[in-house]
Amino acid sequence: MKNILITGGAGFIGSHVVRLFVNNYPNYHIYNLDALTYAGNLENITDISEASNYTFVKGNIKDIDFINALFKKHQFDAVIHLAAESHVDRSITNPNDFIETNMLGTANLLNAFRAIWQDNYEDKLFYHVSTDEVYGSLGKTGLFTETTSYDPQSPYAASKASSDHIVRAYGNTYGLPFVISNCSNNYGANQFPEKLIPLFINNIKTSKSLPVYGDGQYTRDWLFVEDHATAIDLIFHKGKNEETYNIGGFNEWTNLDLIHLLCEQLDEKLGQEKGTAAKLITYVKDRAGHDRRYAIDATKLSNELGWNPSVTFEQGLSKTIDWYLENEAWMNNITSGSYKEYYKKMYE
Ligand code: NAD
Ligand code: DAU
Repeated sequence: MKNILITGGAGFIGSHVVRLFVNNYPNYHIYNLDALTYAGNLENITDISEASNYTFVKGNIKDIDFINALFKKHQFDAVIHLAAESHVDRSITNPNDFIETNMLGTANLLNAFRAIWQDNYEDKLFYHVSTDEVYGSLGKTGLFTETTSYDPQSPYAASKASSDHIVRAYGNTYGLPFVISNCSNNYGANQFPEKLIPLFINNIKTSKSLPVYGDGQYTRDWLFVEDHATAIDLIFHKGKNEETYNIGGFNEWTNLDLIHLLCEQLDEKLGQEKGTAAKLITYVKDRAGHDRRYAIDATKLSNELGWNPSVTFEQGLSKTIDWYLENEAWMNNITSGSYKEYYKKMYE
C-alpha cells in the first residue's frame, strides 16, 4: 500500500483526480488535503467519500506545523499537488492570497517531503500541477512548448511560475524527484461558477447578462477536465523524473466563438428559440493585463506517453452543460451564499 497525498482534492480538477485514483488504484491510500476555501466543496466527491482507500483531511498548506505533522504521521510516498488559489480575477484584487498559498504553500509541502525522506527518495515523487499561464501571452501564431521561456503576466500566473521554479530548484539542489505539468483551460463538471463556462451556463439558465471582457477576441485552448485527470494519471506513473509535460486540447477558441457555441447548445437543451441566449451577451470592461492568447503544444505528451484528448469540444461541452442542468442543487448551494457578494463586486 502506497500513501499518496493529493492536495486541493475538493476543488474542480482535484476532485476528478482524487476520484480517478481512488477508483483505479485500490493499492494506494489516497489522502485528500484541502482547506475548503470558497472554491473547495466536499459535494464534489460525495461518491467516493466512504471508500476504504480514501481519507479526507481538512487543513491548510500555509500552516507549516500542521503540514509537517501530517507528513510525519502518514509518510507520504508521493504528493500530487493541486491546491492553489486559481482565479485570475481574484489575483488582481488580492494578490497576496496567491503569493501565500501558491508560493509559500508549495514550499511548505516540499520542505515537509524532504524532512520525512531525508533526501533518500527511492520510489518517491512530487508531482506539481501547473498552468500554461506561466508562459505569458502569445501573438496570433505559435504554441507554448515545454521549452518556452516563462513570462507570467498576472499575479496568479507569477505565483504559479514561482512555484514551478521552487519545485525545479529542490530537484536540482536536493535531488527531490519531481514532475511538472502545465495545462491549458479546463472545463467540465464541478467547476466553480466564477470561471467563464460554468458562469455563463448559470447566467443563461437564469437569464442574466453574459459579461464579455473587452472585445471577446481573447483565445484559450480548452480541455475536458476528465482528460486532464487521465493525463495526470499517465504522467504520475510513466513520466520521467525532472520532466515537464504540457497538456492541452489542441482546441483553440476565441471567447466570442465559444460563447456563441455555448448559447446555441443551451438554446437547444432548454427548448428556447434559437438566438435567445446570445441576446444576453454584454460587453464589459476588460480584465486588467488580460493575456491575449494561450495555445499549448501537447505533442511531447502525445508522442512519449500516448495521451490524447478523448472527446471533441462539442461533445465535452454538451456533457458539461448536461451536468450543470442535472445538478441544480450543486449550483444553488454555491450561488446562494457568499458568491452573491463576489458577483455584485465583480459585475454590478
Ligand atoms: P479550484 O480553485 O477549483 O480548486 C482549488 C482547491 O484548492 C480548492 O478545493 C481549495 O479549497 C483548495 N485550496 C486553496 N487554497 C488552499 C490552501 N491554502 N490549503 C489547502 N487547500 C487549498 O482550482 P482548479 O481549477 O481545480 O485548479 C487546480 C490546480 O490546477 C491549480 O493548481 C491550478 O493552478 C491548476 N490548473 C488549473 C487549470 C484550470 O483551467 N482550472 C488549468 C491548468 C492548471
Ligand atoms: O490557462 C489555464 C488557466 O485557465 C488556469 O491556470 C486558471 O486556473 C483558470 O482559471 C483559467 O484562467 P482564465 O483566466 O483563462 O479562465 P477564465 O475562465 O477566468 O476566463 C477565460 C476567458 O474568458 C478569459 O479570456 C477571460 C474571459 N472572461 C472570463 C470571465 C470570468 C470573460 O470574458 N468574462 C468573464 O466573466
